[in-house]
Amino acid sequence: MGYKILQKRQLIPGQTSLLVIDAPQIAKKARPGNFVIIRVWEKGERIPLTIADTDKDNGTITIVYLVVGKSTAHLETLSEGDEIPDVCGPLGKATHIDKQGTVICVGGGTGIAAMHHIAKGHNRAGNHVVAMVGARSESLLLFCDELGSFCPELVIATDDGSLGHKGFVTDVLKVRLEEDKTVSEVVAVGPVPMMEAVAKVTRPFGVKTTVSLNSIMVDGIGMCGACRCTVGGEVKFACVDGPEFDGHQVDFGELRKRLFTFRPQEQLSMEEFRKRHG
Ligand SMILES: Cc1cc2nc3c(=O)[nH]c(=O)nc-3n(C[C@H](O)[C@H](O)[C@H](O)COP(=O)(O)OP(=O)(O)OC[C@H]3O[C@@H](n4cnc5c(N)ncnc54)[C@H](O)[C@@H]3O)c2cc1C
Ligand code: FES
Repeated sequence: MGYKILQKRQLIPGQTSLLVIDAPQIAKKARPGNFVIIRVWEKGERIPLTIADTDKDNGTITIVYLVVGKSTAHLETLSEGDEIPDVCGPLGKATHIDKQGTVICVGGGTGIAAMHHIAKGHNRAGNHVVAMVGARSESLLLFCDELGSFCPELVIATDDGSLGHKGFVTDVLKVRLEEDKTVSEVVAVGPVPMMEAVAKVTRPFGVKTTVSLNSIMVDGIGMCGACRCTVGGEVKFACVDGPEFDGHQVDFGELRKRLFTFRPQEQLSMEEFRKRHG
């Protein structure tokens, strides 16, 4: 018995989709910052995806994925009513959330969906949440309505200026930190270059900065070493020690390098998938 897909929504056609999955045990325990490891088909690889939302009453979790390779392309072929054979979680340490004042939650690309769950947690804890979201263009923005429904401030930045500030989300973050000395934490979830840029902007202001590392993972329980990263000069395993870490301490260069380790194999398996599925 697998995990039934109750709802599927294409957020960006052919690129990003949202699934609501029947998983009552995971929904009951999951907290912002947690992720699941799924296997899309019986012999498939294990891939980590962030829990973007939960509904404890209905026993569901929501995941949002960007189609980048074979496993996510295979996931995209599934429809409402289909089952995912394995969904393992909740995994990883939950986001540390306490009442602290103003928290800026920065999201980029698919990371906006993951950031949404963290922003919700900070909002529930009574913090003033400023959501800052960035994308190349308006059509690639996600979760703006959801974030707008509970965040007192939603700031949008697009590279092409089609909506909100024209430029990077880090531009607006810098201005905000210059003008507002009440910000107690910045949380960033998104592509590695974005999280690295956020940490660079916040460093001179001395503001606590939390980033969520998307290292390659296999078992997700600290046994295989695939997700090894260096934080503050110490070896950490993103799956059990993270995935959230102090952005000022992360060795982003090493993370970037390790993410490319299997690129030739990934390209090959994607080509084979295309040949089979057209
Ligand atoms: C904690 C965590 C949470 C994540 N949450 C999300 C999310 O909510 N939505 C989303 O779209 N993506 C998320 N990712 C990234 C996602 O796991 C990868 O995009 C996915 O594994 C790609 O698999 P693929 O076969 O489709 O692509 P492939 O062609 O196999 O790989 C494409 C790229 O994805 C990354 N990747 C590949 N395999 C893995 C793996 N086993 N673990 C991690 N990264 C891998 C590598 O950078 C690789 O170069 C998350 C990653 C981590 C570590
Ligand atoms: S995924 Fe295996 S140790 Fe983290």
